[in-house]
Formats: sequence, C-alpha cells, structure tokens
Amino acid sequence: MSSGPSTYVPQSGLTRWLDSRLPLMRFAHDTMLTFPTPRNLNFWYAFGAILTFCLGVQIITGIVLAMHYLPSAAVGAVPGSSNAFDSVENIMRDVNYGWLLRYIHANGASMFFLAVYVHMFRGLYYGSYKAPREILWILGVIIYLLMVMTAFMGYVLPWGQMSFWAATVITNLFSSLDQVTGGIKVGTHVAQWLWGGFAVGDATLNRFFSLHYLLPFVIAGVVGLHIWALHVPGNNNPLGIDVKGPQDTVPFHPYYTSKDAFYVGLFAILFAFLVFYAPEFVGNPDNNIPANPVVTPADIVPEWYLLPFYAMLRSIPQKLIGVLVLGGAIVTLAFIPWLDTSRVRSNRFRPLMKVFFWIFVVDCLFLGYCGSQGADAVVPGIPGLQLVWLARLATAYYYGFFWVLMPVVGLIEQPKPLPDSIA
Ligand code: HEM
Repeated sequence: MSSGPSTYVPQSGLTRWLDSRLPLMRFAHDTMLTFPTPRNLNFWYAFGAILTFCLGVQIITGIVLAMHYLPSAAVGAVPGSSNAFDSVENIMRDVNYGWLLRYIHANGASMFFLAVYVHMFRGLYYGSYKAPREILWILGVIIYLLMVMTAFMGYVLPWGQMSFWAATVITNLFSSLDQVTGGIKVGTHVAQWLWGGFAVGDATLNRFFSLHYLLPFVIAGVVGLHIWALHVPGNNNPLGIDVKGPQDTVPFHPYYTSKDAFYVGLFAILFAFLVFYAPEFVGNPDNNIPANPVVTPADIVPEWYLLPFYAMLRSIPQKLIGVLVLGGAIVTLAFIPWLDTSRVRSNRFRPLMKVFFWIFVVDCLFLGYCGSQGADAVVPGIPGLQLVWLARLATAYYYGFFWVLMPVVGLIEQPKPLPDSIA
C-alpha cells in the first residue's frame, strides 16, 4: 500500500519478531509516516483527513445512540407517538449527555456531506480522477452513494413526520417502474419488498435501522480500498503534474500529519459551533412531530445535501424519467475519467474549462435552492415564470457539463504551459 520499497527497520526484538510474522508496524510506517507526498498540497487536500474524522465521529456517536434507541413504530407511551420517537426524546431529555450525542450525530451528517462535496469538487478542479487514478475516483463515487443511502435511512429513524414522509416518497420512486412493465406491477412489488409490508411501517423502520448500522462499516471498508488506490500512484497535486523525484515530495509525517491535524481542528471548531449554538439549524422542525400516516406535511423536503438531486427529480413531470435523471446524475460521476479528454489535469492550466467549472459549482448551488422551494414556486420578481423551468435548465447544464463540455473542451482548448516540476 505504499509507493516504493519499504524503509522500515524494526528497532527491538519484539518488533523484529512481529515483523517476520505480521508486518503491521511496517505497513503503518510505510503508509502513514514515510509515504512520499507531493510538497505542494494545499488546504483542499486536508479534506481526506477531515472526512476520516467525520466517519469516526459518526460511527462512535452512532454506536452509543443505538444503545438507547428503539427501532419500533408501535404506539409509544405518549398517545399518537411511537416507541422510536419516544426513545429519541428519551435520549434528548433523560440520557446523560444524550442531547450532545444526538446533536453531534445529526449535525455530523451535514458536516460529513459538506466535507465530501468540497473533496469531490477539489478532485474535479485538479483533475484527480484522470489516469492513473480512475479506480480511486470510482471508489469515491461508491462511497458517496453509500453515504447517501446511510444518511437517508438514518433520517427515517427518529420516526417524525419528515422521517416517515421522506421514506414514503423515496421508496415509492421504485413504483414508477410499473409504467414500463405493462400489467405486471414490478415496481409496486419492489416497493413492497423494501417496506416488508404494504406501506412504510414497523418492518421498514427495523430494516432501515439494521442497514443504517451496517453501512458505515461498509463505507469504512471502501475507504480502506480508496486509500490503497491512492497510495499506488500517490497523490495528485494542485499543479496536476507527476512527481519527478524525491525533490518533489516530503514524508507524510510530520509534514502532512501536522497540517491535516490543524485543519481537522478548525473544522471541529465550526462543527462545535453548529452543535452548541445552532443545533437545529440544518434540521426540519416538522421532524419534531411524531410520524402520522394520515397527515401529509405541506412540503416534503430532504436534507440540504440532497436538495440538488431532489430539484432534478421534481423538474421532470414524468415520474420514471425523473427517477432516471436523478440516478443518472450520480452514475455519470463514475464516467468522468473517460469523459474528460484533456491532456492536462489541473484546471489551473485550463482557462476555458475553469470558467465552465465555476458555472457548474453555481449550477449545483442553484439546483439546491430550487429543491428547497415549494413545487410551484415562481422566480422571485417574475411572477409569470415558474422556478421549475430554471431547474430544468440547471439540470441540462449539469448533464451538459459532463457529457458535452468535458469531452469537447478537452479537445479544443489550448492549455497554458505546464511547469517542469513541482519543486
Ligand atoms: C468517507 C468518505 C471519504 C474519505 C474518508 C476519503 C478519504 C480520502 C483521503 C484520506 C484522501 C487523501 C487526502 C486528500 O487528497 O484529501 C483522498 C483522496 C481522494 N479522494 Fe477521497 N475520501 C472520501 C470520499 C471521496 C469521494 C466521494 C470521492 C469522489 C467521488 C473521492 C475522491 C478522491 C480523489 C480523486 C482523491 C485523490 C485526490 C488527489 O490526489 O488529488 N473521495 N480521499
């Protein structure tokens, strides 16, 4: 898992004994201490470490929360409520520091997504998905998909109004398959199989809890592969040029261990601000109302980090096509290594692509805004123009960016001259 021969020399009898049986120390030494890392990695390269921190925080707080949580939709002690909802209230009020654990976990999901989006846009900007890092990128896309699934199932667990209705809306997307399977309701069968019944209910909650507990460990496994795939070619860097020799690199420790630790600390301060001063800021107040299958909330909206995809889904009137556009938006990411035809990796040297990249960033933010507005919202100041039309344009740009601009601009653009070396 490291590039180049090992430099580890066991210092004691015990480490020599261990090294010839299970070279764990050698592995840790070569991957975390001496690993040759480009000397020009900037702030944006700290997000890999920040993400590792987030995953750790979510797993630890999640395990402790699970000790007090009850995945049961049966009516709880409070009439109209459920055991699941009550157990979360119990965590918030009666469990020692339960409120802290829950707020760290709930806001931790948002911080995790914030970090992963920065990490992904960084990869896009510096062309880190290009050869020889295609597998590294695809593993990242798999991690992202797993994160979306985990977050969605976690959101269902408190069994509030948004939990219940989000689960209903999203699982019902599968029923759109009925539109192409003629008389056989394949989609409905798939949805019922997912629910474990004829609607979202107790069985659904139970299996979502089971999977929500399982998936973070799967993510941890894929992160292991991700870092393995990173350590074979080594890091890309802001210049996007290959490392030429030892003059271009520094050992990972102490240079990047200290730099990463510093930025993890800054990130933790921002995280703490959210937890202690605005713990409900990213949440939806409707989720403090117990799930009620006979009262549909006026607006069912996902968490902020899924809003761009939600906007794409809603912008298409035909349900099945909407679902395909939504799924395609994520699947597209896996093809980027082959869609980008440029010889040059980093956008620093790509004057034209750089412009399209920043339009793409704004486009994603705008899609998020569209997703946060009501289904029949109009463009502010233009009462006759429905927002959904702009969401359609933004969806078209999202696809156009990857499937048209990436291949075409790569061929016609004249990149700036590349420096000879990092040093
Ligand atoms: C739990 C989630 C993730 C963790 C813990 C993680 C971890 C890391 C770490 C530690 C690095 C090396 C440091 C750095 O370059 O920042 C890295 C690099 C990288 N990651 Fe991730 N990652 C995650 C998700 C993703 C996702 C979702 C993608 C893309 C879809 C991705 C794509 C990349 C790429 C392309 C690199 C190489 C960057 C370069 O060398 O320029 N990662 N990741």
